[in-house]
Amino acid sequence: MNTKKKLVVLTGAGISAESGLRTFRGNDGMWEHENIEDVCTPEALRRNPKRVKDFYNFLRKGLPDHQPNAAHFALVELEKKLGDEFLLVTQNVDDLHERAGSKRVLHMHGSLNSLVCKKNPNHRFEFMGEETMETRCPLCGASTRPDIVFFGEQPLYMDEIQKALQECEEFVYIGTSSVVYPAAGFKSYAKSCGAKVTCLNLELPEGDPYTDVAIPGKATEIVPKWVAEFCK
Ligand code: OAD
Repeated sequence: MNTKKKLVVLTGAGISAESGLRTFRGNDGMWEHENIEDVCTPEALRRNPKRVKDFYNFLRKGLPDHQPNAAHFALVELEKKLGDEFLLVTQNVDDLHERAGSKRVLHMHGSLNSLVCKKNPNHRFEFMGEETMETRCPLCGASTRPDIVFFGEQPLYMDEIQKALQECEEFVYIGTSSVVYPAAGFKSYAKSCGAKVTCLNLELPEGDPYTDVAIPGKATEIVPKWVAEFCK
């Protein structure tokens, strides 16, 4: 993919909220119910791998109960229009973008529907079942871990994302609280590289110096409208 990007979209948990998936922060968010230190750090995986695997098994098992919504589908329309000039980066580990039909999507925080080999992190493979302590890498037989980027670990595809941000004409962030780095830094980086920066979110960032256009509302309402306007 050498084409310069016209548009880079970053999504967060807010785009899947109306599909019934919990966001992470705020009222009734995931991190009100679970301690990050128990399920989302390399130390937790070392200390109690079964606890960590069971947590992501539970989330993986619940995925089929949730369906992509109008915001996910609208982003598919953008991709159809722009082709290789479009890149979707998501912090989400659900599969709703793919089930809506998105193809050019990078899961920078990993994915529930895959596992990673503990011995060779390049061995990443699709996985839909229940990961146990006996689950083995199909490529080398080593033990496995959830394909989730834990706090303190390096997100995936950063070189590709950085290049796309450097060259894009517009950067749009949707349904993210913009508090987790490096994703939270994408807007300032894109802006410094010359992109227009747009935010679509339930709550808008107050006086954010990097955001040119901010549209408040529910993702299922504002994303399709914004896409229709963009595609005019
Ligand atoms: P957050 O839970 O931090 O933020 C969700 C954002 O979505 C908030 O700004 C909400 O206002 C907004 N929101 C909620 N409902 C919405 C709706 N219907 N329409 C539009 N916006 C809505 O989730 P993220 O920013 O995605 O990382 O969190 C970033 C990372 O923190 C996650 O990827 C996860 C988490 O810890 C890992 O697990 C590694």
